[in-house]
Amino acid sequence: MIGSANGTPISITGLGSYVPERVVTNAELATLVDTTDEWIMERTGIRERRIADDDEAMTDVALPACRQALERAGVDPATIDLLIVATVTPDMTFPSTAALLADTLGMPDAAAYDLSAGCTGFMYALAQAYGMLSGGLAKRALVVGGDVLSKILDWSDRSTVVLFGDGAGAVVLERVDEGGFLGFELGADGGGGVHLWLPGSGSRHFDEPENFVKMNGREVFKFATRILVQSAEALMERCGLTIDDVDVYIPHQANVRIIEHAAAKLGIDPERVVINVDRYGNTSSGSIPLALVDAQRDGRLVPGKLVLMTGMGAGLTWGSSLIEWTEEMAA
Ligand code: ACO
Repeated sequence: MIGSANGTPISITGLGSYVPERVVTNAELATLVDTTDEWIMERTGIRERRIADDDEAMTDVALPACRQALERAGVDPATIDLLIVATVTPDMTFPSTAALLADTLGMPDAAAYDLSAGCTGFMYALAQAYGMLSGGLAKRALVVGGDVLSKILDWSDRSTVVLFGDGAGAVVLERVDEGGFLGFELGADGGGGVHLWLPGSGSRHFDEPENFVKMNGREVFKFATRILVQSAEALMERCGLTIDDVDVYIPHQANVRIIEHAAAKLGIDPERVVINVDRYGNTSSGSIPLALVDAQRDGRLVPGKLVLMTGMGAGLTWGSSLIEWTEEMAA
């Protein structure tokens, strides 16, 4: 799916993020599996990641991010009428994480549901919320991206445990006078799904002991470096713009090598790229909203600036979104 956003202008009016307090360094991981700090730094650029406590689930990580986004937008939770949570690690299959959060936050009028598109989930959720707000179905949305992937990792598998971390981000979406989202490009390739999957998680292999993430790292690496470039170029062309117009580039934070490769291929110089994978690891659906908050903190999200975000992940899925940044409402 590709489209330029020609409807009512919709933008992000509040941003929030949260990561668990516990920091797990590469040195600590080296005590659990056969790996080293040097290997992880050289191959992934990850120094440390945050890992949720045993009693911390997705809603616990998402809640502070939601509260911060609502506060920054100056919005009463009761006025939110759409809540989408992009995650592959819900508290449970049902009730949805979104329904639980809507209840805790006090959103009695909100349609609330979870969305599953691997690490690309936040891009899919933004596009859906844009469509519903722009089409007049909803007035004010809270979109959350986050995961506690530490819960579904095989902690004896060195090929996956070094990559991931836990965290969540949230944004409030509202109508604005001008600016805001310019377009979206989203895709999926179920044929490549086996390269990054959780086979024992649904109705297909329900009674098999395959409860942990499995990944073909090289295939996912090849897919990632190709799709980050393709998706971004297609969306820029659809919006009648070029990569040179991009002020801030926020790719999915899976691996510094993947990010640097994509940025170089696209011709985006390092000053325009946001990187936080060194501190958080791959937080799946949380990675792009967490990076948005970082970019805002370091002063890069200025009204009028063009921000290009591209996610990719399990599915295999991918998605890009282009937004002309607008003022946060109450920031
Ligand atoms: N520590 C030490 N050695 C390791 C580790 C580790 N943690 N993991 C693998 N190795 C070994 C391998 O066994 C291999 O040894 P061998 O040569 O004796 O067989 C060697 O290191 C090289 O392995 P490669 O897989 O070739 O290493 P590569 O440079 O490709 O890096 C990596 C592996 C980091 C996994 C890379 O392929 C990658 O980043 N892939 C993309 C993964 C990704 O982004 N996944 C998330 C997508 S988003 C989502 O939806 C969740």
